[in-house]
Amino acid sequence: MAKAKTIHRCTDCGATALRWAGKCPTCGEWNTLVEEVEAVASTLDRLPAGPLTLPQLLGEVDHSTATARSTGLGELDRVLSGGLVPGSVTLVGGEPGIGKSTLLLQAMSAMASGGEKCLLVSAEESAQQVRLRADRLPGELPPHLWILAETAMPSVATAIDALQPSVVVIDSIQTVHEPEATGTPGSVTQVRACAGDLVAIAKQRGVSVVLVGHVTKDGSLAGPRQLEHIVDTVLSFEGDRHHALRLLRAVKHRFGATGELGIFEMTEEGLRGVPDAGALLLHDRREGVSGSVVMPAMEGHRPVLVEIQALIASGETKMPKRSAQGVDSARVSVILAVIEERLRRPMSDNDVYVSAVGGVRVTEPAGDLAIGLALLSAREGIALPPGIVAFGEVGLGGEVRQAGQTSQRLAEAARLGFTTAVVPASAPDGPAGMQVLKVHSLLEAARVVGLGAPSH
Ligand code: TYD
Ligand code: MG
Repeated sequence: MAKAKTIHRCTDCGATALRWAGKCPTCGEWNTLVEEVEAVASTLDRLPAGPLTLPQLLGEVDHSTATARSTGLGELDRVLSGGLVPGSVTLVGGEPGIGKSTLLLQAMSAMASGGEKCLLVSAEESAQQVRLRADRLPGELPPHLWILAETAMPSVATAIDALQPSVVVIDSIQTVHEPEATGTPGSVTQVRACAGDLVAIAKQRGVSVVLVGHVTKDGSLAGPRQLEHIVDTVLSFEGDRHHALRLLRAVKHRFGATGELGIFEMTEEGLRGVPDAGALLLHDRREGVSGSVVMPAMEGHRPVLVEIQALIASGETKMPKRSAQGVDSARVSVILAVIEERLRRPMSDNDVYVSAVGGVRVTEPAGDLAIGLALLSAREGIALPPGIVAFGEVGLGGEVRQAGQTSQRLAEAARLGFTTAVVPASAPDGPAGMQVLKVHSLLEAARVVGLGAPSH
């Protein structure tokens, strides 16, 4: 027997409460609980009308349909470990204006050119607006690319049934709505209901579904945080809107690794994949400036050369500023403490700024040595000699510890014309033409790059 139960759901965090309250007991927001009727059915009620799904032997499961289909964009395929898997649901999150619609239109055009039937559900922009964007992009419009400017989920489902596409993009999940569910488009209830429908459509029909989701400035998906659980893959499209560089990474991926980074450049003619990122990230770098150190960072399996910059300013206030962008602020604090205590070079009265240039994030401990040398170089006002890269973890004792993938990092640095590497003592030798300076401590590293003696 089906019963109806009344619950209260928070429109902000999605948590449920049995009783109404002014404040959500889970997230603490005020006036966000709304009444919802939840149908509670017994298992017997829920028996499907059609044929039952019977257990099958795992060894007899046909896995050929689960192989990924290339999206036609190399950098997107790299992050997706090959492409879109039929029957899967992928969420692409990013700030408004970062280029999500452009990325997916380009991917769909490429797939449609390859013969896949693709449907773009544009719930935000009119068909004309999408056509204008498509005209900016390089190449002819492919014949199998369909568009539906629609916001109501039942119409979307009907269109998918009628067209039988192999790929469907919903742009965006916050603007479609399910008339049967409560709440306004974009609310937790609506987003969950629509995503639930689309997951069912993907699984039943073997369609690859891609959902676009807007992310707020603080990096959280507006509203649909729980979406991350119900989709197979979550991609995050990042970058500084004022710079052309765009980074795509997998936050969650059921069909492969999450460490891979896709790099694009936004041009007048859409997004261009950047397979050789090293050179691009160092494009605007000026040699001979103090506080700048290049490190070969690992992004997934790919070494990427990143410039770490530090600036030390005389603190005006009793509370000196500490700012870290693209690097872990906790690591910067540890390295500052090591420099003060082990190298006896005080900086506690100064404002300290550290950043990884170009919108990348260096969170691996191997970035410590570059951060430490950048801080010392900034403090002494002495630039490092040209052609140097540095990497290694710095311990609390000031010791420099081993970092992974040393040979790949050295090879990439050598390829881009760097001639000297400051590395942990235990590191193997570098490639031909690369002078490898093995150091045991941050102090020793400072000495070998000419920052040995403190200025005061
Ligand atoms: P868009 O894909 O609409 O972003 P989102 O869907 O994430 O909101 O792209 C937004 C920006 O990209 C917009 O400011 C215009 C710019 N752009 C280009 O620079 N070149 C292009 O070829 C296109 C299509 C857009
Ligand atoms: Mg858009």
